[in-house]
Amino acid sequence: MSRISEDAMDNFEFYNPTKILFGKGMIAKLDEQLSPQARVLVLYGGASAEKTGTLAEVRKALGSRVFCEFGGIEANPTYETLMKAVEVARKEKVDFLLAVGGGSVMDGTKFVAAAVPYEGEPWDILLKQGQTVKKALPLGTVVTLPATGSEMNNIAVISRKETGDKLAFSNPHVFPTFSILDPTRTFSLPPRQVANGVADSFVHVMEAYMTLPQDAMVQDRYAEGLLLSLHDIAQRITKAPADDYDLRANLMWVATQALNGLIGAGVKQDWATHAIGHELTAKYGIDHARTLAIVLPAMLKERREQKRAKLLQYATRVLGLKDGSEDERIDAAIAQIEAFFKGLDIPVRLSAYEIGHEGIEPIITQLKDHGMTALGEGEEITPEISRKVLERAL
Ligand code: NZQ
Ligand code: ZN
Repeated sequence: MSRISEDAMDNFEFYNPTKILFGKGMIAKLDEQLSPQARVLVLYGGASAEKTGTLAEVRKALGSRVFCEFGGIEANPTYETLMKAVEVARKEKVDFLLAVGGGSVMDGTKFVAAAVPYEGEPWDILLKQGQTVKKALPLGTVVTLPATGSEMNNIAVISRKETGDKLAFSNPHVFPTFSILDPTRTFSLPPRQVANGVADSFVHVMEAYMTLPQDAMVQDRYAEGLLLSLHDIAQRITKAPADDYDLRANLMWVATQALNGLIGAGVKQDWATHAIGHELTAKYGIDHARTLAIVLPAMLKERREQKRAKLLQYATRVLGLKDGSEDERIDAAIAQIEAFFKGLDIPVRLSAYEIGHEGIEPIITQLKDHGMTALGEGEEITPEISRKVLERAL
């Protein structure tokens, strides 16, 4: 007879086929990852990849292979732009997609990969959250912004200008086959994007960790290791020179680990902060990470009783808070999370974006329209509770 406690780890399947090539100069290894006969479409964002020399390094590494390029994928990549890339990929009969950029370019490339062979209207991929994707072109990435973890997961978030939607899909066919992480390629990032990367990674860990107590030692300790690293990085990165390789290398690897599936395997996950955050980006154009800094502290205040045990565990194991009553330690932990974002120069209130009370209702309407009506680890967060969260964030 075995004994399974109520909070035992859940059953899980873990699959992550992405090969990581990490370190200075690793873009040169691109050559070894691709067949000499590959027909490659290189996808990138605005001006940064050209300006920083990353594209030149990629072109050099592709050598004599046949390749074409598609630039102009915007931050919060849109269906409208990506469908133009789908056209190019079909016309040029490419058989491999290479994303050079941050989360937006990587996510956009995953959508193109799934859309090229898709029978039917590709927006359905988003409407069905990726369940109808049966195949995709293979893709790889060269990461220039450590933040989303898109380089080692099978998730993409795509916006549609026409409708104002920002929706996510996931599917095993869109895992990158390889991702190249060269920390020197992040030296050119503006401070705002570096801060966003730290904040986004932090909230990715929180979404997997700050839930219910489960007897999942590895996932908890691994998440706490990532959180400790992020607290450490956050304290130093705003003052450090942009070419501090060690710090950028650590940030890059933390960001990848924060959302590659490991810490979320076998445990309840939250993702309510992200669901509300995506609606804030869709409606008000606030950077992804910045929406999370608004929602997470408010979410923790609203859900402190449900998350009590984990808030205390975080207070003790990550922040080292030992004094005071349980409630005082929880207050202090939430205050430190707010301080974490503010220390990165990221505001934690809607008012910083001049959004007042009247700005909340449209977000609630969008959540309902997108079926985001039972959020969080217990699926208990109704639109009413989301409203209360946003009211706490005013
Ligand atoms: O367009 P360019 O000129 O390249 O400039 C970009 C962009 O304006 C710039 N940038 C990137 N690398 C640079 C650089 N500038 C100078 N030097 C470099 N090395 O940074 C700006 C922002 O880039 P973007 O890719 O939009 O940022 P991020 O990596 O934060 O990605 C955000 C997107 O990812 C989604 C978000 O919703 C958002 O659409 N997410 C994807 C996830 C996933 N796939 O798992 C999970 C996340 O929670 C998130 O939702
Ligand atoms: Zn995120």
